[in-house]
Amino acid sequence: MNSEIKGIILAGGFATRLYPSTLVTSKQLLPVYDRPMIFYPLNTLIKAGIKDILIIVTPEHSGDFINLLGSLLENYGITLSFKVQSRPGGLPEAFILGENHIDNHNVALILGDNIFEDDFGSIIKTFQSGGHVFAKKVSDPERFGVVKFNQSSKAELIVEKPTEFVSDYAITGLYLYDHHVVQAAKDLQPSGRGELEIVDLHNYYLRQNQLQVTVFEGAWMDAGTHDSLLEASNLVKQRGIYQKFDPIIKEATKEFCEFRKKCIKQ
Ligand code: G1P
Repeated sequence: MNSEIKGIILAGGFATRLYPSTLVTSKQLLPVYDRPMIFYPLNTLIKAGIKDILIIVTPEHSGDFINLLGSLLENYGITLSFKVQSRPGGLPEAFILGENHIDNHNVALILGDNIFEDDFGSIIKTFQSGGHVFAKKVSDPERFGVVKFNQSSKAELIVEKPTEFVSDYAITGLYLYDHHVVQAAKDLQPSGRGELEIVDLHNYYLRQNQLQVTVFEGAWMDAGTHDSLLEASNLVKQRGIYQKFDPIIKEATKEFCEFRKKCIKQ
C-alpha cells in the first residue's frame, strides 16, 4: 500500500428524482446556496489533503464539468481528472472505473450530492487499511443504507434501504477503502434492482472484521430530491458552511471568477 490516498467523486446518474431541473444539466452542477453542488464534496476531499481526484461524470454533461473544474485547481497542486460513466450501474462501479487511478493506494469515494458540515480530515489522513464509513442518525432511514450496532457499539448488520426498521443510523456517502476494494467491486453480483450495491462492499469488509464505522453529529445532506436540495441550501446558509471552504478552493474560485469577468470585458 502506498501512503497517498486517492479521491473519487461520483457525479454520474440520471437524477430523475430531480426532473425537470436535471433534464439538461447534471444534479451535481445544480446550485446549493451560492455555488454548484460538486464544490461541497470536492471541499471535503481537499480539506483532507487529497491531491489527486478522479471525477466520474455522465457523457451528456462531461463538457460542463470540464468547463467548471478542468483548470480550476491546476495552479494549486491538485490534479482533477475525469472519467465518463456511460451507464450508471451502481456506486461500486466507481472503484472499477477508477482502477488505474487507485492502483495500489487507499481511496476516499464521496458521492457528488453529499454535503458534510464536519471535517473528516484527521480520519482520512490516518486511514491505513480495510474500510471506514461514516454514519449519522436520521429520521428517514428507509432512504439510505443503514447500519445496526450491537451492545458494544460494533457494527453487526448493514442493509440498503430497509423496508422494515433495522436501525436509524444511515451510512453516508463518504467511504474509505484500501485498494482491495477494486477486486471486491469486480466480484460483486448485481442486486435485484440490477445494480452493484455499495452495502455489499461494506459487508465484504464487515465479514472480515475490517470495517470501522464512525458516528458523527454535524449536519449532513444527500441533496438528491427537491426537498433535500432546498434543505441543503438552507442548511449551508444557516450553518455558515459556505464560509468554511478550504483556502485553496476559496482562492481558486475567486481567481477563476475574476478571470471570467476579464474575458467578458475584452
Ligand atoms: C446511496 C447508497 C446508500 C447511502 C446513500 C447516501 O443511496 O446506496 O447506501 O446511504 O447513497 O447518500 P442513493 O442516494 O444513491 O439512493
